[in-house]
Amino acid sequence: LVLVVDFGAQYAQLIARRVREAKVYSEIVPHTLPVAEMLAKKPKAIILSGGPSSVYEDGAPSLNGELFTGEVPVFGMCYGFQTMAQALGGKVDATGLREYGRTPVTVLEPGTLLAGMPTTHNIWMSHGDQVVAAPEGFTVLASTEVTPVAAFEDVARGYAGVQWHPEVLHSEHGQQVLEHFLWNIAGCRQTWTIGNIADEQIARIKEQIGTEGRAICGLSGGVDSAVAAAIVQKAIGDRLTCVYVDHGLMRKDETEQVERDFVAATGAKLIVVDAEKQFLDALAGVSEPEAKRKIIGREFIRAFEGAEIEVIKSAPEGTKVGFLVQGTLYPDVVESGHGAGTSTIKSHHNVGGLPEDLEFELVEPLRELFKDEVRAVGAQLGLPDVIVQRQPFPGPGLGIRIIGEVTRERLDILRDADAIAREEMTKAGLDGSIWQMPVVLLADVRSVGVQGDGRTYGHPVVLRPVTSEDAMTADWARLPYEVLEKISTRITNEVKEINRVTLDVTSKPPGTIEWE
Ligand code: XMP
Repeated sequence: LVLVVDFGAQYAQLIARRVREAKVYSEIVPHTLPVAEMLAKKPKAIILSGGPSSVYEDGAPSLNGELFTGEVPVFGMCYGFQTMAQALGGKVDATGLREYGRTPVTVLEPGTLLAGMPTTHNIWMSHGDQVVAAPEGFTVLASTEVTPVAAFEDVARGYAGVQWHPEVLHSEHGQQVLEHFLWNIAGCRQTWTIGNIADEQIARIKEQIGTEGRAICGLSGGVDSAVAAAIVQKAIGDRLTCVYVDHGLMRKDETEQVERDFVAATGAKLIVVDAEKQFLDALAGVSEPEAKRKIIGREFIRAFEGAEIEVIKSAPEGTKVGFLVQGTLYPDVVESGHGAGTSTIKSHHNVGGLPEDLEFELVEPLRELFKDEVRAVGAQLGLPDVIVQRQPFPGPGLGIRIIGEVTRERLDILRDADAIAREEMTKAGLDGSIWQMPVVLLADVRSVGVQGDGRTYGHPVVLRPVTSEDAMTADWARLPYEVLEKISTRITNEVKEINRVTLDVTSKPPGTIEWE
């Protein structure tokens, strides 16, 4: 275990991922966690992240000397580098000189940390203050035009640091810097491999659920719930029941694909609830986006609870379905304040059958994992690419991609157009480079067109291809004209209700990715 101490930088999660890419398990802790509690976790090393503060500000987060007793190796980057220098008796100055962005660094002495790296290479900087004198016992390894001490190490005590951000892709040899620290200075072993991750999670879930427990898992068609279910299936076999609510708002053939591929890959017991009519009846006459979302959410809970009751009723005599599987990921855990341990969830049943509240203990096999690890574990467990590489798709499905009232007929039109767009994107090899491409049906808009010899009066669709890192911000994707042409021609030829294809060229912000 390596702890990444978060000083409030947006980089802490990225650092934790890079450490894991070096095959060493890492967790993020807030800098406010007392040092004694950090050490109680018995970390093999501690990494201090960058942060927005200056070590000079009043109340700037810092670490007291307790951390530097020589017991645990420590690596500092950016702000963490400066706090470390200060805590160990070096000198940090606000020289008024700043460095931002790509910066050439000169290696003065490679030492262990920078071994094998070119004498000058480019790294990514973002700082105002600088370390002007390294603490005693440290070797200065590198400098830049502005920063005399840009990297240092004290291998005997297991301390090292760099002023730059080795975790960002723009820093050349950044991953190597981290690996040299982890493997060669801190002596961490490379045990965090995909095979091990899967085995560890399966063992953990076995222990949590025990030999008698029964669990239920909601499948959405997305990667997280599918991988979570696959792990639990490996742990407890057919004491797991998966439930997939078909709300009728999925894309063409998607429900059949989930049913077929998921079951084939995992052998899991799957109940598909056909709730299309229930959802469409509830959505009839509604076109306001928030109202649609609320209805879909409410009907989903109803349908899922109905299935829960069936599963509970059909469990063998004397056994209890006490566990609910959820696909919570590590970033959710970090963002919600690092809560540890197991929690329970109450689900109130107002559907006929069982009158009382049901209490489930949560099973969260992905709580420690980042998304890319989830995909890798999924592939390791035999799930096909259509599931593990699936692009994001909103829970309310096509219900929020029809602008206007949602009806069966409109859904079928959109499904046909969307299927063509997805097929052409895949053919062009673009699935990996775009984040997602919603196809939106402007169901209440009609425009005049001409096709063959006749006038048409059909609906437009909007293509919304975007690139993004995390869906918080996004840019419209510059798709090749030939691909756009192919999609447009095919949609207008093959879907008779659609006579116009338009392209959304708005970034996020100000636009959101979805239209509703
Ligand atoms: P927006 O439209 O807010 O979307 O820019 C950001 C990302 O979230 C997806 N999205 C959802 N995902 N339930 C989900 O699971 C939802 O209700 C939902 N709404 C939007 C959207 O597809 C994009 O990836």
